Amino acid sequence: MVIVRTVEELQKAKEGLEGSIGFVPTMGALHQGHLSLIQRARDENDQVIVSVFVNPTQFLEGEDLDAYPRREAADTQICERAGVDILFMPTIDQMYEPDELCIGAPAIRGYILEGEKRPGHFDGMLQVVMKLLNLSSATRAYFGKKDAQQLALVMQMVRNYFMPVEIVPCEIIRDEKGLALSSRNAYMNAEEKRRALCLSRSLKRATKMVMSGEFDAETIKKEMNDVLQEADQVEYVAIVSRDFKQLERVEIGNTIILVAAWVGKPRLIDNIWI
Ligand code: PAJ
Repeated sequence: MVIVRTVEELQKAKEGLEGSIGFVPTMGALHQGHLSLIQRARDENDQVIVSVFVNPTQFLEGEDLDAYPRREAADTQICERAGVDILFMPTIDQMYEPDELCIGAPAIRGYILEGEKRPGHFDGMLQVVMKLLNLSSATRAYFGKKDAQQLALVMQMVRNYFMPVEIVPCEIIRDEKGLALSSRNAYMNAEEKRRALCLSRSLKRATKMVMSGEFDAETIKKEMNDVLQEADQVEYVAIVSRDFKQLERVEIGNTIILVAAWVGKPRLIDNIWI
């Protein structure tokens, strides 16, 4: 595995590569969720590039940019073992210059749910993903369904800007109790981790309701909110189409049920695709 820290080094390292390139962008503190994306990229491509970059432009004022876990040595080992060809770990000044040209998230889909609670977050996310996709020359890029709205917006960017890359959605990886893995889970103590399970439990309850014939979104959301009482604060419970339009009734094969809530320090998100 080659570790590169500058754009120039990355371009050089890529010169030697032949065949398809699978790319996995991350912010590091890698866990089994990230690893599942890397493994899939490994299975489906000749070459694999992973990036680790805690992107400042997608953090809002007052968010956890400084506290965000950084584990370079462990991340390097994980990538090495997973058979990654190039690990790209740039500094901020490699990625940005002052007074940049920006791209913006779409006015509706970029400013509901996560975008409403974290206005501007998706602008920064799309900006860095555009840069990283261009830099990697990826044939395929792998994104988790865990960040469902992020995934939808990246797919829209690729579509709207005619970018020559295939975006591959990957399943959510959970721990044995059902908690969706996240680098931010490290902020929770044992008691908070136990309470955090109410997110996945609320989604299981919703799935059960749908399976027993209850399709009304309001009824499902009400029941989910009951299950979510163990969270410190629920930010939203939403039932949307795969295209992120609000649904009044669940449509099998075209629905995502999402939840965002605070438990202790972290703000957690989870979802299920129905
Ligand atoms: P990060 O949170 O590090 O996540 C990197 C990728 O791993 C994302 O596609 C995310 O959806 C996926 N992922 C995280 N937890 C997962 C889980 N439990 N199961 C499956 N996939 C999971 O998302 C970002 O970084 C950034 O916004 C980024 C795209 C790198 C741009 O800065």
